[in-house]
Parts: sequence; C-alpha cells; structure tokens
Amino acid sequence: MYKKRRRLKKEVIVGAVILLAVIIIGILAFNYFSYHSSYTYKLKEIGYQDDEVETILNNLEDTQIDDILEKEYNRNIPKLIIQKYFIYKNLDRYSKYMDENTEESPKNVVAIVNVNGDYDYYTHTKKTDMSKKNLILTNKYNYLDENYTPEDLIKISNRYAYEDNHVREEVNDQYVSMWKAANEEGLVLIANSSFRSYESQEAVWKRYKNQHGEEYADKYAARAGYSEHQTGLCIDIVSDGAIANDFEDTEEFKWLQKNAYKYGFILRYPKGKEKITGYSYESWHYRYVGVEAAKEIHDADITFDEYYAYYLAK
Ligand code: DAL
Ligand code: ZN
Repeated sequence: MYKKRRRLKKEVIVGAVILLAVIIIGILAFNYFSYHSSYTYKLKEIGYQDDEVETILNNLEDTQIDDILEKEYNRNIPKLIIQKYFIYKNLDRYSKYMDENTEESPKNVVAIVNVNGDYDYYTHTKKTDMSKKNLILTNKYNYLDENYTPEDLIKISNRYAYEDNHVREEVNDQYVSMWKAANEEGLVLIANSSFRSYESQEAVWKRYKNQHGEEYADKYAARAGYSEHQTGLCIDIVSDGAIANDFEDTEEFKWLQKNAYKYGFILRYPKGKEKITGYSYESWHYRYVGVEAAKEIHDADITFDEYYAYYLAK
C-alpha cells in the first residue's frame, strides 16, 4: 500500500516534469519561429543595424516593409523615411538622387524629387490639373493649354497698378484689400505685371533668350504655357522707384513677407529654393492660392511646388 503510493507520487512528478519540459520547449520553439519570421530578423538579415530597424518599423507600413525586404540593404532608406514630406512611391528616385548628389541633405532630396526636380526641366511634363482651381500648378513640368485664358479676368485699377494689368476677379479683390492694409501703414504696392497670354509669355522668354541665351532665359522666365502669369493668379508687385531686384530692400517687401499670406498670396520663388522652384529668386512675384493654403504654406515654410506635391497630388 505504502509502496504503491510512492510509485504513484513518482509517476505524477515525472509526468509533471515532462509536461513542463514540453511547455518550455514549446515556448522556446514558438519564440524561435516568431523571431525568425519577424521583420526585425529579416531586416537584420539584409544588413540593417538595430537603430535602422527601429526607424523602419516606426515609419513604414507592413506592405512597405515587405517591399523593402525585396530590395538590397540601402543605407539611404532610414535617412529618407523620417523626412516630413517623404512619399513612399518616390523612394527609389530619392535614393538615386541622393547617391548622385551627395552634397544635398535628405530633406532637400525629398523636396527636390517630390517636385520632379530629379528630371530635366521640360521633360515628364503634364497638363495642369485645372480642377484644383486657385491651387492649379504651373511650373517646368506642368503646362496650360496654349489658348487658356481665365474667364473672369478683370483690370486692376490704376490706383493699385501700372497700366494694363489683369487678374482673376477674386485675386483682384484680395489684392485690393492687401493694398489698402499696406497703405494704412504708409506703403504703396504697385502691380507691375500680372496676366500674360501664351503669346506675350513667349515674347518675354524669347527676349531673355535672344539677349542672354537659353539657360539664362530658363532661370528667369517660364516658357510659353508654363508660366503662372497665364493663370491670372499671380502679380509681380513693386513699389515706387523699386522694380525687380531692388524690391527686396523696400519696406513694402518686408510688409509682404509678414502679411501677404493673410490675403491669400505667397512669395512663389523664394531665395534658396531655386532647385525646388526651378527659378531664380524673385522678391516681386506673388501667387494667389487662397487664404487657407497661403497660411499653411507660410507656416510650413515650403514652396507651392512642395505643397502641391505632398498635399494635393499624392
Ligand atoms: N518669371 C516667372 C518665372 C515667369 O516667367 O512666369
Ligand atoms: Zn512674375
């Protein structure tokens, strides 16, 4: 009786030990297989370091990580995916541009590629998407129909402009409001050039080209069809005695820097953004995009091209 009880006890202990062993082996096997099928393991297998793996896991969706796993190790990827305006579909182009332009920061690489700046000017061109209304894009990759003329063009009063300036009605209203606000502070804005037809833009570009050559012309003027001036949504603003390059040194310019966005206008070709806009800095060229977008663009300190690529075309 006593012996039987002892044997039973032994059997229970052996059984428990075996069960425990099976559980432990099961847990170890489970962990082993889950680790080996995890993104962490697979990314490390390709060559990504711990911090890079963490960046990838924190910034990409599963389908995007699956895609990364199809590619070879690429040290550019963790640097690119943390950029605010990173767009996944552009990844390969970013990486190529980064390798070919090692002086550019990842932030600039993302900005340049987002606006197609990795393509030669006037290649990969598309018709401007007119459904965007006040937010239509014309630049070196987006063009207007040869005979496009806005339907609601009106003349800007001579009180606010030199002779023969026309813009769309809403732009005129907002320009006049802006003009009055600036004038209350003793400043006088003058619209110097605004709507230009396809033909007159062609004349502008050709004049530059004949005087200084094609490369120079492309820095300062758009080719016909590619100019914002044909949209009726922009105004070259100057002040008395200061045109073009001098305008930067005026109080009127300083006022516009602080206030233009409140009326829906943005400085379209800012200093230091030449590779993004494709044009030399123009302190006088203001584009109307509407109050809401102008505030977003102003607050984010980005160009309209970048805004369009990230928020409107993505
Ligand atoms: N100057 C600007 C870029 C234009 O010609 O439209
Ligand atoms: Zn202009």
